[in-house]
Amino acid sequence: MDILISRPLPGPAPAFLRERGHRVTMLADDRPTEEFRRELAGADGVICLLSDPMGADVIGAASRLRAIANYAVGYNNVDVAAATAAGIPVTNTPDVLTDATADVAMTLLLMVMRRVPAAMRYLAEGKFKGWKPDLLLGHDLRGKTLGIVGMGRIGQAVARRAEAFGMRIVYHTRSGAKAGLPWPAVSFEKLLVESDAISLHVPLADTTRHLFGAAELRRMKRGAVLINTARGPVIDEAALAVVLAEGHLLGAGLDVFEEEPKVHPGLWQAPNAVLLPHIGSGTVETRTEMGMMAARSLHEALTGGKASHTVNPEVYTTPAWRSRKW
Ligand code: DGY
Repeated sequence: MDILISRPLPGPAPAFLRERGHRVTMLADDRPTEEFRRELAGADGVICLLSDPMGADVIGAASRLRAIANYAVGYNNVDVAAATAAGIPVTNTPDVLTDATADVAMTLLLMVMRRVPAAMRYLAEGKFKGWKPDLLLGHDLRGKTLGIVGMGRIGQAVARRAEAFGMRIVYHTRSGAKAGLPWPAVSFEKLLVESDAISLHVPLADTTRHLFGAAELRRMKRGAVLINTARGPVIDEAALAVVLAEGHLLGAGLDVFEEEPKVHPGLWQAPNAVLLPHIGSGTVETRTEMGMMAARSLHEALTGGKASHTVNPEVYTTPAWRSRKW
């Protein structure tokens, strides 16, 4: 089968696919979007990225396409309904990136609470003239309340880490308390007003777009911290820039942005905003395993099987999928 890989992947995923007889085209990092669309027209399967919009138009134009492996756990870039209607399984890469992403959420939380960027700037600018009792004081994590919005695998991994730092955990999910978790589920309102820090772990959907707008940001405790390693549009960035400038929040730690790779200009000016370029899952081990997971799922799908980590399992009952000749 002809397989398209959107950009260079770390690790042996391309070799794995070639060893199984597939012809693999891996596009260069600096390729234009048009090249991806052109190559997709001749592909039976694709490993695409969260930065590749796979809308109904793109899927409809790819007449040979039989499987989409999204190299991410989030798949808001793919029109799953359009793929299902076309009999195309869509797969993602859950689990393997849980720890790496939770580590970055904690990194952001620590950096904001301990004012690490300000401290680094202070040193680099030659202002450090010796130890002082009141120099660049941050805040303890111990004894503070961390509110987690979305309590899936990554939310739980963050809760375990934060608990080890002495934080009290509360969480909110739209579907209520999750069985077997040791932490209290609370209403969204209670989480907003009680948390000293809030960490976001929801997928991007119509229900979560701008979940944190001006009103919600102002409902947060004065001096609280907001951390986002999920998807940028969950926060209204323009509103966040205003609330940070007003000094209502202590700071924000963001690994994701509304219109990546753009960052809202107000966030650059914001005091105590820690901004990272979407590196939540960015470790050698995790990205290698994400590639292998995508490659294995794609191979399964392209050899007529029900692929592991299919996010639209209903596709396997559609006439479009059942009538395929493998
Ligand atoms: C994901 O997988 O959804 C992350 O945002 C990138 O690893």
